[in-house]
Amino acid sequence: QQDEQRHRIESTISHLFAPEDAGLHGALQAAKDAGLPEIQINPIQGKLLQVFATACQAHKILEIGSLAGYSGIWLARALPADGHLITLEINPQHAEVVRSSFANAGVGDKTEVRVGNALELLPTLTAEAPFDLIFIDADKASYPQYLEWAIKLSRTGSIIIADNCVRNGIAFQPTADMDADTAGLVKYNQLTREDPRLTTIVLANDNDYTDGLNVAVVKAN
Ligand code: DHB
Ligand code: MG
Repeated sequence: QQDEQRHRIESTISHLFAPEDAGLHGALQAAKDAGLPEIQINPIQGKLLQVFATACQAHKILEIGSLAGYSGIWLARALPADGHLITLEINPQHAEVVRSSFANAGVGDKTEVRVGNALELLPTLTAEAPFDLIFIDADKASYPQYLEWAIKLSRTGSIIIADNCVRNGIAFQPTADMDADTAGLVKYNQLTREDPRLTTIVLANDNDYTDGLNVAVVKAN
């Protein structure tokens, strides 16, 4: 009953405020055809990324983990004409799918997919910093290191957003036998909560309130 009501409202908000066009649908289809997992953010989260990008007047956006290019399309579309999105992707085949989906969605010119392990690529980005918004959505075990780099590559007022920081609540509960992914998420939530340079909240805003985004604004850098 409550779930139904919640889904009805979510669906209404999604259709009214975050409609998907052919570019976004095309990216999902291309990812599916290429056998990529269907674990992208939802349209409301995509629109929220745009709201945050606009709020911090983003000209330069960094994404860690491209997956289907779906979030990258939402982000790139929030950029002004001279804006630029760099997205880091470890899988070269997936990167090709993303490039093609970006072009198809009309954001080919303001986007760049860099292939490699993010922990190796991040140190090469210092000359291109600061980034106004950084979106983290890659392997969960490395989230604490991604946060460290995100802060390094940001400015006062930059917004650092990370996906999957709820995970049914396990991302808040350290346990003796947690796996490396869970440990990464628990640590990420702890670090963002305690770092005096950040103001942070977690939003449980996926389709069924089981997962969501950690949003941290850089207060001082
Ligand atoms: C997984 C990764 C994600 O980024 C996500 O949003 C959902 C699931 C995963 O690795 O299973
Ligand atoms: Mg994710």
